[in-house]
Amino acid sequence: MCFMNEYASSGTEWIRNVDWKELARDYGTPIYVYSEEFITKRARTLKDLFRELNVDLYYAMKANTNPEILRIISNEGYGLEGVSIYEVKIGLSIVQDNRKIMLTSCCLDDETLLEAIRLGIKINADSWNQLSFLLANNHEDIGVRIDLGFGAGHHAYTTTGGWQSKFGIGIDEFVHFLEKESPSGKIRRLHFHLGSGISSPEIYIKALDGLWQKILKYRAFAEIDIGGGFSYPYRKEDKEFDFYDLKKNLEAFASNYEKVHGFSPRIILEPGRWIVAGGGVLVAKVTDIKTKSGQTFVTLNTGMQHLIRPALYRSYHEVLFLQKDTDFMKAFIAGNSCENADVMPFERTVPASLKRGDLALVLDVGAYGYVMSSNYNSYPRPREIIIRKNGKIEETISFDKYLLEILRK
Ligand SMILES: Cc1ncc(COP(=O)(O)O)c(C=O)c1O
Repeated sequence: MCFMNEYASSGTEWIRNVDWKELARDYGTPIYVYSEEFITKRARTLKDLFRELNVDLYYAMKANTNPEILRIISNEGYGLEGVSIYEVKIGLSIVQDNRKIMLTSCCLDDETLLEAIRLGIKINADSWNQLSFLLANNHEDIGVRIDLGFGAGHHAYTTTGGWQSKFGIGIDEFVHFLEKESPSGKIRRLHFHLGSGISSPEIYIKALDGLWQKILKYRAFAEIDIGGGFSYPYRKEDKEFDFYDLKKNLEAFASNYEKVHGFSPRIILEPGRWIVAGGGVLVAKVTDIKTKSGQTFVTLNTGMQHLIRPALYRSYHEVLFLQKDTDFMKAFIAGNSCENADVMPFERTVPASLKRGDLALVLDVGAYGYVMSSNYNSYPRPREIIIRKNGKIEETISFDKYLLEILRK
């Protein structure tokens, strides 16, 4: 727990420069507030890092589909990766070139697949039925999502490989298929996505090695897509994901590949959380402070219906208060939905002078925040505000309205 004046994470410096009281006065609370400067900087950092490698970056829209955010990231040269046909349509409203859109979904019926094929986007088959359908329809840009038998992530629910993972085609079955069917040239890309919130490159290297030993040593593919999942440092003591190490290993992989196959594959990365998490703040108001049987609860006018990560994954989010107190107390911070799960994990240290109506800033909610929100308990979803690089403040279009407009076209 820390307070505005002592929050030191260099990544979220932008929060110091915002007049939160004025914002809350102008737009009410709760509101999601995003920083264009922060998001641009992160997107550009990755792009610059991988510039000399044969790498394409596809932003994973599921992390945050706010159209303004998609526009910012797409303007940095990123493609957009979607996990539903609706995300694909949103992506297509942002980019001009349909090949800049990729779809990877575990649950596509033939009708949806046909629509995706007609759109001429990149599609990663997640099952045998999807793969057969794409091959039978001679789709030009087919990838296959491989399950290497393991995954990783910040929580079991965000681990998307291995036992009990519903995603992808098992690697051994796929090797067998390649030996039997030899659909050479028709499959352009091998893809894996191990999970979300992975804090070290090691598991990606293990996965690349698994692909190499079982498939790539013998057979070349034009593109190798290593998915997303790169962690974000939610706590002060968390380290940034080591992209330098990942890059070094990708270089070694590509050079080995070239020696064996005579060309270097295009490597695809699908970062979501890493780019946007720190670019969002949920601004709320304290509604009550109550002590019961020795436990103090500070309740807010927002909750798990607006930010489900703490309840679903026991995820940690820093909460800032604007007071410069010297006296503190211990308290749990609780949401306003009628669920006992709606309490932030871990007791926090909060200013002793905290009172009803004070502002609370829930940090690092730019990823998997608004996109996972609902109207549970009939609470309206928060408005979304973006702070432009020049300091201008704009409210963005309501997501439901945007989606409806796109679907009507
Ligand atoms: C296929 C795919 N790619 C990329 C991502 C992005 O993950 P993250 O936001 O952790 O980078 C996800 C998220 O689960 C995903 O399912």
